[in-house]
Amino acid sequence: MDFKKKISELLKKELKLDLDYESLLEVPPNISLGNYAFPCFKLSKDLKKAPNQIANDLTKIKKPNWIKEIKSNGPYLNFYLNPEHYFKKILKAIEKQKDKFGSSNIGKNKTIVIDYSSPNIAKPFSIAHLRSTAIGNSLYKINSFLGYKVIGINYLGDWGLQFGKLIIAFKKWGDNNKLKENPIKYLYELYVKFHEQESEALENEARAWFCKLENGDKEALDIWKKFSTLSLKEFKKFYTLMDVKFDSFKGEAAYNKDLNKVIRMLKNKGITEMSEGALIVKLENIAPCLLKKKDEASLYATRDIAAAIDRKKQYNFTKALYVVDVRQSLHFQQFFSVLNKAGFEWSKDLEHVPFGLMRFKEGTMSTRKGKIIFLEDVINNAIASVSKIIKQKNPKLKNKEKVAQQVGIGAVFFWDLSHDRVKDLEFDWEKVLDFEGETGPYVQYTFARASSILRKAKKKVASNVDYSLFKQDKEIKLISMLDRFNEVIKDAAVQSKPSVLARFILELAQLFNEFYHICKCLGNDVEKEVSSARLLLVQTTAQVLKNGLNLLGISAPLEM
Ligand code: ARG
Repeated sequence: MDFKKKISELLKKELKLDLDYESLLEVPPNISLGNYAFPCFKLSKDLKKAPNQIANDLTKIKKPNWIKEIKSNGPYLNFYLNPEHYFKKILKAIEKQKDKFGSSNIGKNKTIVIDYSSPNIAKPFSIAHLRSTAIGNSLYKINSFLGYKVIGINYLGDWGLQFGKLIIAFKKWGDNNKLKENPIKYLYELYVKFHEQESEALENEARAWFCKLENGDKEALDIWKKFSTLSLKEFKKFYTLMDVKFDSFKGEAAYNKDLNKVIRMLKNKGITEMSEGALIVKLENIAPCLLKKKDEASLYATRDIAAAIDRKKQYNFTKALYVVDVRQSLHFQQFFSVLNKAGFEWSKDLEHVPFGLMRFKEGTMSTRKGKIIFLEDVINNAIASVSKIIKQKNPKLKNKEKVAQQVGIGAVFFWDLSHDRVKDLEFDWEKVLDFEGETGPYVQYTFARASSILRKAKKKVASNVDYSLFKQDKEIKLISMLDRFNEVIKDAAVQSKPSVLARFILELAQLFNEFYHICKCLGNDVEKEVSSARLLLVQTTAQVLKNGLNLLGISAPLEM
């Protein structure tokens, strides 16, 4: 519950004037003037009464049980929250539900399919795929927390012309040992070399090899199998490192066998036509969807259509999300529209969750020009940098390596997730790793700090505290913020925006640090009851920070 909002609603109901009550509400400088104060000057004109009189009249508002008192003070109307009733309710709920606090069952009996990460085999795992991984992984956790059955699909790009290119490159310049050593980087080298040497003849050869592959040629298939197995093994190492999981790795290649059936079905519905030798579906307001090219090669869209039909059959989802870079928006519009045109009612439940580009200072990334930034390098660099910081800050820390991993990955994920996904994002190492900035390490550090306070407190935090002792503005704000957690998670889910949650826990961490700066929790000069109450607040805030981080796919180490 957001007190400000609730009080605004009360006032609105009473006054029936169209005002922005929420921004008019003030937090008085002193708790003796209430938790919130409403200045009545602005109403004078409309109500044709003196502000003092208005404030006085408003004291008759019927009090809900979370308000203890409504008093007038000159032209101000002061609201006193009912601590016993309200603070207790929030803090007890957190204490009781612990890691489950914020969860719900609104998704019960509903299934959401999320297609995320989905890198292209034989092409490097780029930063765009990292974004998809971080966002999709968080949406997976958030929706599961809300009671949905979630199916995470890594729709591997394990088919396509790139294999034709790589087969020819490998046959010309390939080295098996190098391939085994670092398959992803080596295949990428071959890919770059192919494009450096690009000629019409080479392109034609590549196309011919891909055709062979599509027609089940044994040699082509063997090389394909080798490339994909090695690459997938390498990807899986990173998924393990990042603690990202999938329920299925069914990729594009798995749908080759369905393509003819899908094309026949669409033809039968009478929605296809031939255009310059290609098979297309014309669509309203957007470019037609290409189902089959002149050279008979099947297409990305056709496979996505087959995959969507298969997923509906297998999982009967209520919603299917595709967490993919914004540059593919047209592709999704097109194949969603084809399904719609073909009469699949559930096509309305398909949703593209786009995100902008992540730019490193060098500029955007392209797989073609050899200026790619590898996931491997990003993650390793993050871990190494954090490792250095930890060695300076906390040389005695146990499990240094593990913590550096958690914080390094947390830094990269949080940077991504704390920005509105729709916008392009700049990746600047200094900012991403700043322990004092708006970063993952900052939130993690705040959690570790709270945990250390609780360790120092030694005695178990009492759960029956005197709730009327929460009098400081920061304490009250902190409690009311904790209470917003449930709503924030739902909001993040509805918008498919983990950033809503990330911004929230960032603010929560900032507020906690402000609270801790002002409100002493431990020490001989702090009254025992006050200390108990504040420690409970430390504990519950830490719990919410942890739950929030975990929903973003980020660990919360106890020490760092
Ligand atoms: N492999 C694709 C790429 O990297 C992304 C796949 C996204 N999912 C989908 N169903 N199309 O561009």
